[in-house]
Amino acid sequence: MPSKVGRGRAPGKAILFGEHFVVAGNSAIAMAINLVNQVAATFRGDGKIRVQSSELGGAGIFDGPAFQPETPGADRALLEPVKVAASAALKEINSNTGLNVSVEANVPISVGLGSSASVAVATIGAVASLLDRSIPRGRVFALAFESERLLHGNPSGIDQMIVLNGGIISYQRDRGIKALEQAPSDFSVLIGNTKVRRSTGTVVARVLAFRDREPGRFRALAEDAAKIVAEAQEAIIKLDYSAIGRLMDQNQRLLVEVGASSAELDKLITAARASGAFGAKLTGAGGGGCMITVADDSTRDRIVAALREFGADVYEVYVDETGLDSWQEPN
Ligand code: PMV
Repeated sequence: MPSKVGRGRAPGKAILFGEHFVVAGNSAIAMAINLVNQVAATFRGDGKIRVQSSELGGAGIFDGPAFQPETPGADRALLEPVKVAASAALKEINSNTGLNVSVEANVPISVGLGSSASVAVATIGAVASLLDRSIPRGRVFALAFESERLLHGNPSGIDQMIVLNGGIISYQRDRGIKALEQAPSDFSVLIGNTKVRRSTGTVVARVLAFRDREPGRFRALAEDAAKIVAEAQEAIIKLDYSAIGRLMDQNQRLLVEVGASSAELDKLITAARASGAFGAKLTGAGGGGCMITVADDSTRDRIVAALREFGADVYEVYVDETGLDSWQEPN
């Protein structure tokens, strides 16, 4: 086997406005963030797929449907989406080679920052590069969906789209993306991570149950969400943090009503606002995971300290303009 390594990198993401309502067909706005996952793929001769990642709980070997842990406590549920993404890429390029796939996951997992979509996309890029192939973006999107479905049921696709594309985008399920072309590249938000891991599928199911119980109310909230997203797009382009914060507060009220928030998120959101933030909301599915907030230079440090006091990990993030990148190196 030739000794070479295929590498892929893809960012995490933060949904700025419109999560959950995007599942029902609304537009949402998402930003690729400068927390980045890296994947390396090399050949192995036995046709099996070995996945290794300390952040995803260890290493194990997939041999068809069988899984053999290699390290104590290796978590099949966390490693399998990587194997599914790698297999999807192999199938796409008609290869049945064995692989060693190693993931350096810098995007925290299961907290709404797009870690699984990012790992899937970076894995597909790494495998294609190892095999001297380039898979068109539309196909990477479709293939990443296979591993996302394993985790999330019926996702809208916004996570894969933003981590593939980079930048700041507006996404609608049936129309795809529109990059916010004039979005400022120095746009920045603070993220507070409750460190409460949750399943996107569970929270989405809770929100859909709300929709089924109260269809009229859900429709009214979805209309409000659409207005907020339209206004937010303008505010982001103008880098008007004060308007962005006000719209975050409005968006959060809708998310609370449909049952997407949690006590931990509410605490961090209240703490950010009390420390002078322009506004704050949950990001991603909610039910735990992360919140986002915007502030000016005079209050940022105070807000970071307040969030930490409540036990949060805090990241000040900027826009990742690159999205997926993949290449090959000698090993
Ligand atoms: O997986 P998360 O936490 O980034 O949430 C994705 C956003 C949702 O709108 C809640 C679900 C979806 O598929 O769009």
